[in-house]
Formats: sequence, structure tokens, C-alpha cells
Amino acid sequence: MTTALILAAGMGTRMNSSVPKVLHSVGGKAMVHHVIDLALSMNMERVVVIASPYLDKEQIVSGRQIEVAIQEKPLGTGDAVRVGVDHIKDYEGDVLILSGDVPLIEFETLAPLFNKRELYPEDLLVLAMRVEDPRQYGRLLTTDDIVDGIIEYKDASFEQRAINLCNAGVYLIPAAVLRALLPLLSSQNAAGEFYLTDIIALAKAQGLISRYVETPHPETLNGINNRVELAQAEKIMQQRWRQRMMLSGVTLIDPDSTFFAHDTIIGKDTVIHPNVTFAPGVIVGNEATIYPFCHLENCVLNSGAKVGPFAHLRTGAIIGEKAVVGNFVEIKDTTLGAKTKVKHLSYLGNAQIGDRANIGAGTITCNYDGFNKSPTHIGNDAFIGSNTSLVAPVHVGEGAIIAAGSVITDNVPEHSLGIARQQQINKPVWAKNFRTTVSELKSRKS
Ligand code: UD1
Ligand code: MG
Repeated sequence: MTTALILAAGMGTRMNSSVPKVLHSVGGKAMVHHVIDLALSMNMERVVVIASPYLDKEQIVSGRQIEVAIQEKPLGTGDAVRVGVDHIKDYEGDVLILSGDVPLIEFETLAPLFNKRELYPEDLLVLAMRVEDPRQYGRLLTTDDIVDGIIEYKDASFEQRAINLCNAGVYLIPAAVLRALLPLLSSQNAAGEFYLTDIIALAKAQGLISRYVETPHPETLNGINNRVELAQAEKIMQQRWRQRMMLSGVTLIDPDSTFFAHDTIIGKDTVIHPNVTFAPGVIVGNEATIYPFCHLENCVLNSGAKVGPFAHLRTGAIIGEKAVVGNFVEIKDTTLGAKTKVKHLSYLGNAQIGDRANIGAGTITCNYDGFNKSPTHIGNDAFIGSNTSLVAPVHVGEGAIIAAGSVITDNVPEHSLGIARQQQINKPVWAKNFRTTVSELKSRKS
């Protein structure tokens, strides 16, 4: 039986931000949500997030099966765990401690902790990472697999700083041990904080044993404390997702310029050209093509559809099978039927468009009057001529044709021609006479 405590109440001062550190996003998802979702995927007894009073509780929970305990003041990681342990009062099982600022962590990262628990049911277990650049991580003082203490960078001697076996900030400790040792922590150290890491030396003094296990994936344990580290984490996360996409059958012409969100879903044999960004909430079917410089968000691209270059698919865009969306087209809250084409320079908002329709260059749905959004319906096989404004609410029937340059304010019945523009007048020889008159006037003046 294991309960997860996720520490997320630190000030994050090194971010220099008005947004709390753990709410900064990696791959379109808050750092702390990456960690929470991992804990939830591991079938924990309970998942408790230790948050500061400044964090918006709703934002942290956002529909997840978790509990939130408030740490009134950021007195250190030891104090944060105390708050968590107070919250789970009568709980007697194991406690998995995680930090909310380690968004790259995965199950494989910490699985060795659980394997070690099988061997040592009562000890304190610390996840260690051996890193080339140990930065400001706590250093592990060890004898074989026993941890004698953890020394924080700020308090470490020159020699201790040379140790590259570091504390990942992930621990498995029985609740009873935490209850016994946490009250003994002191804040007499370089940071003036209650360090959770001091618990190891305290345990030793009480005859308890702490052991470490090294993670096979130290690169997934980067703690994010400033924006440089945030950008590095984003890079590693993107690299991970690109590899997974490619191995699952998606072609990325230039993986380095393709950016995914945590929940992007893409089917087999879809081809993504360079410089494409997937914001959260995108689902793409099989054998679709996304040409360069497209931005997609909260939308669905069905199989065989082609999009871009330079297309903007916004929230609620649903692109039908084998539909084509060309350059400089923006689509929001709109469904395009199968094989419908919108190939150039258009804005479609709040529209329902049937199958095989052709939406000409420069078609605009005028869906907003400054107060309300109104819908546009376009039937199957309709043809909208270039440079048409469709003033919503408006309905264009199946098979109808709209003449180019029309401003359509009234419904157009099916199979009809809708034309809404000034009648053209041609004045024979007018241009020739005009030029003659103007040039005569000019020569008289000079
Ligand atoms: C901590 C460890 C360090 C380890 C590193 C791994 C301590 C004293 N040090 O250092 O040994 O190598 O993590 O990334 O534990 N937090 C609270 N309340 C507080 C203070 C912090 O909830 O009062 C939370 C933070 O929001 C953060 C986590 O605890 O998510 C870690 O705190 P942070 O200040 O980032 O500790 P590090 O200096 O990284
Ligand atoms: Mg940290």
C-alpha cells in the first residue's frame, strides 16, 4: 500500500515569475500535472499534493482524483512532507515522495525503488541519479548501497561537491518513520530551511537504515528551478515525444522543428512537414499530411486530410476525411465534411460544411457581430465563389453555387445560384476616350 505525496508548495523564486513554478508548462501541461498524472497511473492508495496558499486549488485539481494539503509557509521540503503526513493522519503504509518540479519523470525512472522495497520492507529508500553535471542537487554520502546522509549543495564542502551521485528528490519511506523523524528536523543550515534530506542522518542516529537505488534514467529527473532548465526540459520532452511518434508510424520530415503537446494523437502513415506545432487537444487520423508552418489546437483531422502550408486550425475545427485545407486558412468551431476543399485565404468560424463542397479563395464567414456568434451552414457539393462573405446566420443549400464576390445575407436554396453584388456595366470605348481627354488637357497646360 503506497500513498504519494507531491511537493509543490515552494516559492520557485528562481523562476522570477508571477506564476507559481509548478504551474509552468512543459508540452502544454503544468509541471505538477505531469507528476500527478504519473502518480495516478501507478494505482496509489491516495495522491496528496502539498500546495502553497497562493496556488489555485481548482487549477491544481482540474478534475483529477487527488487531495490537496496546504503548507502555509514554504519552510522547506521537510516541512512540506510534515504537512502531507499530517494530512494522511491514520495512514500506516509506505509514502512515495515526489517533487512537483520534475516533469520528465516516468514510471521506468522510479521502478527500481519499488523493486528494492520488495527486498527491504522497512528501510528508507532514496532514488539516486548519477549525473555528469550535478548542479545544485543534494549529494549522497554512501557506504555500499547504504546512505549515511544527504548533504545539500549549499552546505557541502568542496570535496563533497565533487560527488556526482545525487539525490533525485524521490523517496519511499514508511509513514511511521516519517512521523517519528520529521519533528526532529532543524533549520540550522545554509538555507535556513527544514531539509527533508536531513531525515537520512536522523534515521541513522536512531539505528534505522537508508538505502539508495540508482535510476537507469537520470535524464528524466531534471529538477526545474529556473527558465533555462524549463527550456531544457521542454527540449528533452519534445525529443521523447518525437521518437515515440516516429516509432508508432508517423513520418516527421524534420523532427527537430515539430512540436507536440502531452496529449497529441496521430495515426499511422501521417506525414508531418517541418515547423508544425501541436498545441493540446489534437487528434489526427491515418495517412493525413500536414505541410509546413501549421498551428493546430483542440481539433480533429480525419484520415487522409491535407492541411497547410500556413494553416491555423483552432479549437473545434473538425476536418473531414480527405478534406483539403490550404495556405492562410483559419478554421474555428467548424466542421468540414469529407473531401471538402478550402484551399486559400479563408476564415471559417461556427460553420457546418457538408461533403465535397468547394470553398473558394478568400471566403469569410462573418460569424461575429460584436456581441454574439452565429452559425453558417453549407450543404454537400455546394460551391462558394472566391471572395464571398457569408453573413451569419445563413444557410447555403446542398449543391448551391455562390457567385464570386458576393455578400450573402439571405439563405440560398439548394441547387440555386446565389449572387449578391452590383450588376456590372461595360461602357464601350470609354477608357480610350478618357485617356485621350486627359492627355490633351495635360499638353495644353505645358
Ligand atoms: C531538492 C533536494 C535536493 C535534491 C533536489 C532534486 C531538499 C532540501 N533538497 O532540492 O537534495 O537534489 O530537490 O530536484 O529537499 N517545496 C515545498 N515546500 C517548501 C519547499 C519546497 O513544497 O517549503 C517543493 C517545491 O515546490 C519543489 C520541491 O519541493 O517542487 C523541491 O523543492 P526545491 O526548492 O526545488 O528543492 P531543490 O533545491 O531542488
Ligand atoms: Mg528543485
